[in-house]
Amino acid sequence: MAEVTYLTHKGILFNAIYHSVENFIFLENEFQLLDDDVVSVVYPKSGTHWMAEILSLIRHDGDPTWTNSVKLVDRVPWIETLEGMECALKYPPPRLMSTHLPFQLFPKSFLHSKAKIIYTARNPKDVLVSLYHFAKAMKGVKHPGSLEEFLETFLNGTVIFGSWFDHMKGWLEMRNRANFFFITYEELQKDLRSSVGRICRFLGKELNSQQIDSVVENASFQKMKGNKQSNGAQIPEMIMDHTKGKLMRKGICGDWKTHLTVAKSEHFDHVYQENMRGVKVTFPWD
Ligand code: A3P
Repeated sequence: MAEVTYLTHKGILFNAIYHSVENFIFLENEFQLLDDDVVSVVYPKSGTHWMAEILSLIRHDGDPTWTNSVKLVDRVPWIETLEGMECALKYPPPRLMSTHLPFQLFPKSFLHSKAKIIYTARNPKDVLVSLYHFAKAMKGVKHPGSLEEFLETFLNGTVIFGSWFDHMKGWLEMRNRANFFFITYEELQKDLRSSVGRICRFLGKELNSQQIDSVVENASFQKMKGNKQSNGAQIPEMIMDHTKGKLMRKGICGDWKTHLTVAKSEHFDHVYQENMRGVKVTFPWD
């Protein structure tokens, strides 16, 4: 059984294998975002790899050579990890970066920059199910127990990267900024082509029809699953036991329906409504 090694920073739990408090402090207070940076912000299990692949393909006009030959974490480093920060500091601009961080821990330099943020959200019930399966394979974190037990852990926010509700509410405060773009996993699923078009417009990137087709094709679940640079196979053994779970698990919307009883789903809805009261945004899962 792998050792459980959490760290807590500003009340939020993190996996201590690849995070450090020093890096969080540096990131929040000293790391400088540049005007041409693009940062994908995603709560865990909400489409982080998917968005990283889409952005990588858009960056290269739909040509999959880069996504097929370079590890996803080197193309779109996770700035809160020690390795990701090292990569971001060496990254020749314009940088593509990724983070799971809640807004309050994000670099303060964002407030004075034109760096573009793309926030991807997912139905929290599907996040719960995806995280539950993934947590069984992750090293350094507690075994999630039964799904019923993990449901409570998730709803009370004692999971890595903290509460889903706080993450959403914190980032949604930014939604009226011109350099902030909000999209959902459900929209990507429903119409990836038009979603790619919207992302391109936000980025000020013009792709022709064939290039957009190539982004859509190469960012499909099946293509990504077969790409060892993007399918999770590259996640180091010290972080994940690949015999116990897969990153590219099902890749669908509504898998929660096969996992939660009616009573558990209603309980979830109740906590959701309590927490999201006052949020004036309609989501695809509402
Ligand atoms: P499931 O566990 O529900 O299958 P993250 O990258 O934030 O860790 O999210 C992982 C989730 O995104 C997994 O969900 C995974 O299958 C899904 N995913 C990854 N790439 C995808 C794609 N191209 N299309 C649809 N879902 C994708």
